[in-house]
Amino acid sequence: YGGVKITRQDVVKDDDPTNNVPDNIFSKLGMQLHRRDQHPLGIIKNAIYDYFDTNYSNKFNKFDDLSPIVSLKQNFDDVLVPEDHVSRSYNDTYYIDPQTVLRCHTSAHQAELLRDGQTHFLVTGDVYRRDSIDSTHYPVFHQMEGFRVFVPDEWEASGMDGTSFAAEDLKKCLGGLARHLFGDVEMRWVDTYFPFTNPSFELEIYFKEKWLEVLGCGVTEQEILKRNGKSNNVAWAFGLGLERLAMVLFDIPDIRLFWSDDERFTSQFSKGQLGIKFKPFSKYPPCYKDISFWINESFTENNLCEVVRGVAGDLAEEDGTTTSP
Ligand code: PHE
Repeated sequence: YGGVKITRQDVVKDDDPTNNVPDNIFSKLGMQLHRRDQHPLGIIKNAIYDYFDTNYSNKFNKFDDLSPIVSLKQNFDDVLVPEDHVSRSYNDTYYIDPQTVLRCHTSAHQAELLRDGQTHFLVTGDVYRRDSIDSTHYPVFHQMEGFRVFVPDEWEASGMDGTSFAAEDLKKCLGGLARHLFGDVEMRWVDTYFPFTNPSFELEIYFKEKWLEVLGCGVTEQEILKRNGKSNNVAWAFGLGLERLAMVLFDIPDIRLFWSDDERFTSQFSKGQLGIKFKPFSKYPPCYKDISFWINESFTENNLCEVVRGVAGDLAEEDGTTTSP
C-alpha cells in the first residue's frame, strides 16, 4: 500500500451512484499520520510498540501499512457483524461500491492475518466512519488492533477455563499498557457488546471531567478462530483509539488538530517524546493584514479613529486582544 495518495478516479468506477465517499475524505487516504515518528499519533504508536516488545519479547508482529480499502466481507462478515447491523448502512459507513468500503475498524484484518498463521499481532491504521464532527469526533481516526492466540497448555496449567484465562490476561495486558502510557490515571472497565468478542469490555479514562472511552476489547468468538484454522485455541483482541489516547497523553483539546500542518502544532512534538504537554494557540488562521503607523506629536487617538470609521463604519472597535509591539 505504501501510503500512496489515492484519488476518487483511482477507485470509483465512473460516477458509481453507490459511492458515498466525499472528496475531503478521499484526500485523507494515504496520509498515514500514524507512520510519522514526529506526529503525536506516530509517537503513541511507537510507545505502544515499546510496551509490547518489552513485555512480550518482540513476539507481536506489527502491521501499519494495510490498505484501508477493504471488502464488505473483511469489514463485517469475517468478524460476525450481523446482516442487519447499523454499522453496515450507507448512513454509517463509507462505501466505494456495494462490495467495497473504507474499513470502519482495524478488526477488518483479524481473519486474514489469522489465516496467514499470525498468532500475536498489532495492526495500526486509519479508519473511517460517517459521523458528526466535534472536538472528540472526526470521520477519520486511527486505531490499533491487538490480537493474541493462546494454546491449550497455557490455560490448562492455570486451572482456569480458556475464556476466563484470556479475559484476565487481556485486562492485565491493557491495564499495564495504560500505566505505561499515563502513569497513574483513573480508569474503569465497562461491560459492553461486540459481535466478535464475548465477553466484551471497554476501558474508559477520566479526562477533563469526563469518562472517555479509549478502547474496546474482549475474548474472541470461537467461531472466528474455527473459521480460520484455530479451533483448539482461545484468543483475545482489542481495538485502541489512538487519537483519544493521544488527547489524554499530550493534553490535545480537539481531535481536528491531528490533521493540522500548522507548524504551531507540528513543531511541538518530537520522536520518542511522551512527556510533552500541548500549548494551545488560536484556532483562527494567522492574518497578515496588519498596518503600522509612524506618528508625530500632533497624533491623537480620536483623529485616527475618525479616519478608520470613515472607511470601516461604526463596527470598527478597539481590539482588546492586540498586544504590542
Ligand atoms: N473494533 C472495535 C471498534 O471499532 C474495537 C474492538 C476490537 C473490540 C477488538 C473488541 C475487539 O470499536
